[in-house]
Amino acid sequence: KLIIASLGMMLAINMNAAKKPKTNALQFNPESGVKASLTMPNGKVVNYTAYNKLYFVTNVEDSTYQYMNIFVPEGANEQTPIFLRTYVGGYMPSQAGNPQAQDASGRALAEGYVLVIPGSRGRTSTVKKGKKTVYTGRAPKALLDLKAAIRYLRHFDNLIPGNTEKIITDGTSAGGAMSSLMGATGNNPAYEPLLKAMGAANGRDDVFASVCYCPITDLDHADMAYEWLYGNTDSRKNLAASKKTLIKELAAQFPSYINSLGLKKTDGTLLNADNYLDYIKQIIIRSAQDAKDAGADIPDSIGFTFSSEAAFQAPINGGVGMARPAAMGGGMPPMMMGSRKKVGEYITDLDMNKYLNYVVSTQALKGVPSFDSYNVNGAAASGENGEFGNEQGSDVNFTAWAAAKTGSTLSDEIKENVRLLNPMYFIGDTATSVAPHWYIRHGARDRDTAFPIAINLATKLQNAGKDVNFKLPWNRPHSGDYALNELFSWIAKIVK
Ligand code: DHB
Repeated sequence: KLIIASLGMMLAINMNAAKKPKTNALQFNPESGVKASLTMPNGKVVNYTAYNKLYFVTNVEDSTYQYMNIFVPEGANEQTPIFLRTYVGGYMPSQAGNPQAQDASGRALAEGYVLVIPGSRGRTSTVKKGKKTVYTGRAPKALLDLKAAIRYLRHFDNLIPGNTEKIITDGTSAGGAMSSLMGATGNNPAYEPLLKAMGAANGRDDVFASVCYCPITDLDHADMAYEWLYGNTDSRKNLAASKKTLIKELAAQFPSYINSLGLKKTDGTLLNADNYLDYIKQIIIRSAQDAKDAGADIPDSIGFTFSSEAAFQAPINGGVGMARPAAMGGGMPPMMMGSRKKVGEYITDLDMNKYLNYVVSTQALKGVPSFDSYNVNGAAASGENGEFGNEQGSDVNFTAWAAAKTGSTLSDEIKENVRLLNPMYFIGDTATSVAPHWYIRHGARDRDTAFPIAINLATKLQNAGKDVNFKLPWNRPHSGDYALNELFSWIAKIVK
């Protein structure tokens, strides 16, 4: 009798629950797809079904950005890998859009992958709360939105085609940083209360692979890396004495940072402040040699030494895809006087001073400081100062050094936001599921952040046993979604 009575109560409770309107639940209607097609640059027409405007949280704060679009090509099934492209740039808000024939989104669809384009809030996005304008996209909100999108895919795994164990993220610049964060912070409990408060689905948000083009990340060490690398270039020589003092102070912080990371080269020897510049040099030589082997002209004038005998070993063994590539990054250097095109000739050395001056001659450096500049010696606030700002729209310092220059200190809240936006703190952390596969690119003449930012990310991942395909592609400025044949043949290998 008792059992029957309690069964009856349970039934009654369940019926009550069923009657509740479901306005506060995540929605996915498999019947809502619309058919569309995309014509690729080669003329191939890709037919797909689009599921648009899928809100990935129940407590939607910003209805302009907190939804995603999903595109399912003909023939996709439960085993099909999922390609997630974020269009975040400049740490700005990013609205979910449509596949683009010219970039990796269209290419992913053409390869038969399920494509996901999530929107996300950013440093300038605001909503009206009563009469107030509130900034709701400051760090780490963009990452939280992207994590919520990943959880949504798993939440509706039974209804949405695609294999959620094969999610590949892709982004460029600040989007490359977001991609690196999706890859490096999977399931870390520090994000959990924030995701819960947003009404993200419960569950996992780790991914299978991260594609990161020129990630502007490790923001709390970006200024010291920048001045350590570029502070002595000619372009910094004519600056005011007060700026030169800042350059010296920042550059002096970098050695202890590098030493603190305890990174190792592939031969197991320790990377430190003394051998780090040589490590960069070897990576750039490798890049130039690859380009040269593929037919590019490498000018003598920018610091290279050539020989008919090999004297060079690859410093980073990139695992899958590190063989001499058939498909180069494209964008070959212009013909220059005294350039070398002879195949079979080896680059044996590089004068880094000359090379860095060459990089800086192709595009002016950022100011001093480049990233945490707000109120430091009259410098204007950077986008990053806005990224760490508050809901009222303030710009905020995010390094202890810059804060001290402006007579303040970092609050615990800002310190935590800085940590939550830096993949370096999560790689090797046992509470985190770091993606097993990584494809990282930073152009060999990209000066938007210093080479060590991408190099440290790649090296730390490699040291943690991850499969890392890393290059500083020759003659590339700040850009993304290039050499798509190379990228998609790497993806085809890892998803097999
Ligand atoms: C981007 C570029 C930058 O130089 C920067 O500091 C932050 C973001 C970008 O292109 O996304």
